Amino acid sequence: MKDNKKESNLPHGGALVNCFCEMSELESLKQKINSLPALTVSKRVLCDIEMFAIGAFSPLKGFVCKKDYESIVEKMRLSNGLIWPIPITLQVNKTDYENIKNKKEIVLKDELNEPVAILTLNEIYEPDLKKEAECVFKTSDLNHPAVKYLFEAGKYFLSGDIKVLKHTYDEFPEYNLACKGTREIFIQKGWKRIVAFQTRNPVHRAHEYLLKVALETVDGLMLHPTMGETKGDDIPANIRMKCYKEILEKYFPKDRTLLCIMPASMRYAGPREAVLHAIIRKNYGCTHFIVGRDHAGVGNYYGTYDAQKIFDELASGELGINLLFFEHSFYCKSCGEMASFKTCPHDKSNHITLSGTKVREMLKNGEIPPVEFTRPEIAKILIDSMRVTEPAKK
Ligand code: ADX
Repeated sequence: MKDNKKESNLPHGGALVNCFCEMSELESLKQKINSLPALTVSKRVLCDIEMFAIGAFSPLKGFVCKKDYESIVEKMRLSNGLIWPIPITLQVNKTDYENIKNKKEIVLKDELNEPVAILTLNEIYEPDLKKEAECVFKTSDLNHPAVKYLFEAGKYFLSGDIKVLKHTYDEFPEYNLACKGTREIFIQKGWKRIVAFQTRNPVHRAHEYLLKVALETVDGLMLHPTMGETKGDDIPANIRMKCYKEILEKYFPKDRTLLCIMPASMRYAGPREAVLHAIIRKNYGCTHFIVGRDHAGVGNYYGTYDAQKIFDELASGELGINLLFFEHSFYCKSCGEMASFKTCPHDKSNHITLSGTKVREMLKNGEIPPVEFTRPEIAKILIDSMRVTEPAKK
């Protein structure tokens, strides 16, 4: 099954971007900071800044201009034709707009008032938010977390390149590798075909199945969880990190895996986000990317396989990363193994599937879900974390 063909793993657009400022310019930038107008940005924007800095959003060097924005929203492409599915934008309200509208440079600050980046202001525009919501997120319903953010974050969009002064995502630093760093590791390890796995959850048996099936045909696996902002009921990043380390340690060969975090925030944009996720992993140097069922979905806004179907809209090979599509997977009691409807002839009564709500309820009650659904070691980490955060009611 294995072929040793070298896959292309050029960055998106051809070259990796690095938005960190050079050490040599750091001092002069720091000196001018006090004279610049300042803007405090949201956690999501801080994550985007980190993604620009480490090259994960290559070829973008900053927040998109109006021409690119409109082209992304309407055509899923930058104005030069390169595929790009979700506009990466910096929204501000009227008060901030009034303060900065005539400025050339702005210092971006975090919530602690620390300067983190300098934006060279190229343009300010007021786009059609409803159009973005409907084209990108397929809904203008404010119950969708990213649509809510879009409508609440301010109607003025700032565009321009950024110079990043320091990491704006500082958790798990040893796992936060820049795209250049993972590419070097792949060369050192001699991996030519590398599959990336996006997740915002602990690794359950279905995930593990996807990972192992994929790993059968490639050289290495990059487990690449989203660690920026996620919605309130998702499992916190630090707990998930324990789960990832445990599953890799106990159930995967060490020399075939790399755990690396993605310091981005989830947009829950389903199909469009699947395309963005693939592009990001291409930038990290991966040659293959897994898309399963309801990838990056939330609620019922997207069909189960919409995040796979969207790739049909792109010309073959255009994206520059191979996609591994998986059907909904489960444990089948009659097969005695993990399977999907592509490989299992038995009806649903044989299958062990649990809803997220049911699993959360079991874990909260200290119950270990069936071993066919989640490894007991993972269940234990999750149960312990819930005990700490939710003291037992009297
Ligand atoms: S996501 O928002 O990051 O996509 P999640 O962590 O649940 O959510 O999923 C990670 C990846 O595994 C996605 O590609 C998703 O489609 C896939 N996936 C999750 N559960 C299953 C399953 N039971 N069967 C097939 N694919 C799955």
